[in-house]
Amino acid sequence: MKIQFILGGVETEVEAESGRNLLDIALVARLRPPYSCLEGHCGTCEAFIEHGETSEDKTDTHIVRTCQAIPKSDSVRVNYDKVEPK
Ligand code: FES
Repeated sequence: MKIQFILGGVETEVEAESGRNLLDIALVARLRPPYSCLEGHCGTCEAFIEHGETSEDKTDTHIVRTCQAIPKSDSVRVNYDKVEPK
């Protein structure tokens, strides 16, 4: 599956295995996304899903905790820049 990340104004496309969460995918790609607890509590890792589905798409806001969100579609576009830093 293809995951596109927008972080710090830079867009990066990554080919990822299924079953990993978005934060793991970003870290393996050597991006530097924000995170802290890694357990879904703090919200530091939140990002806006511009396109595609993840396991955490539960609200109309399309903002997910990337340490918990696993991609569910072949293509997901993740924008960290659209979420206020915590
Ligand atoms: S790192 Fe704390 S909620 Fe994801």
